[in-house]
Amino acid sequence: MADIRNIVILTGAGVSAESGIDTFRGGGGLWEQHRVEDVATPEAFARDPDLVLRFYDMRRAAIQEKEPNRAHAALARLDAEWPGDLLIVTQNVDDLHERAGARRVLHMHGTHLNAWCTACDARSRWTGPLIDRPPCPACGARALRPDVVWFGEMPYEMERIYGALRAADLFVSIGTSGAVYPAAGFVREARELGTQTLELNLERSQGSAWFDETRLGPAGELVPAWVDEMLG
Ligand code: APR
Repeated sequence: MADIRNIVILTGAGVSAESGIDTFRGGGGLWEQHRVEDVATPEAFARDPDLVLRFYDMRRAAIQEKEPNRAHAALARLDAEWPGDLLIVTQNVDDLHERAGARRVLHMHGTHLNAWCTACDARSRWTGPLIDRPPCPACGARALRPDVVWFGEMPYEMERIYGALRAADLFVSIGTSGAVYPAAGFVREARELGTQTLELNLERSQGSAWFDETRLGPAGELVPAWVDEMLG
């Protein structure tokens, strides 16, 4: 890991698993309990908005009862102490990176704690339910939806992410199955650019073959150890 100055870190549900937040895939994952097509697409929201709003109201309430774990804390320490460029690109819609103290965080799949007004396009911090169709704080329209990126929608800030990847010397993927694009393609992008790549995951992922190195284990152990290495 010599000669590293700029780092891009991609995180997924595995980084929040030890905080008690369900992952999406695998045994007991959220997509075993709910069908993606019922709750996580624009078509589902158009068809049955109450079902979708109730699902996200439950998730929004649940994440506010969880606490950051050792992996979030270690990444926050790296963010605070790393002198070069660093960007934590998270697919997670919880706020545990920020609550652990990380600042350089980009939520490519949006966040549970924002409501997005489909009438005026404003985004407002939102911690309560949406099921009762509360008015938008900006325009008053009762047209709020969760500010999360559903299947079939474009993830946020892709230009900024690809810019950071182009400038990176190291790409690290933590706790993601590599099943969902475009995030799953970042490792190949990084490789083509000649960037070093490292994966930290509980088990081998769909993308493992693309990484220079994969370390297997729980994020709460692997991430603090890796951050110690980086900060010497
Ligand atoms: N430590 C490290 N990795 C873990 C841990 C842990 N304690 N627990 C689980 N994992 C790993 C799993 O082995 C799996 O590879 O985390 C990964 C979680 O994969 P997914 O559930 O598919 O989550 P993610 O990759 O973040 O999903 C991507 O899918 O449905 C969408 O929008 C949703 O952002 C999400 C996207």
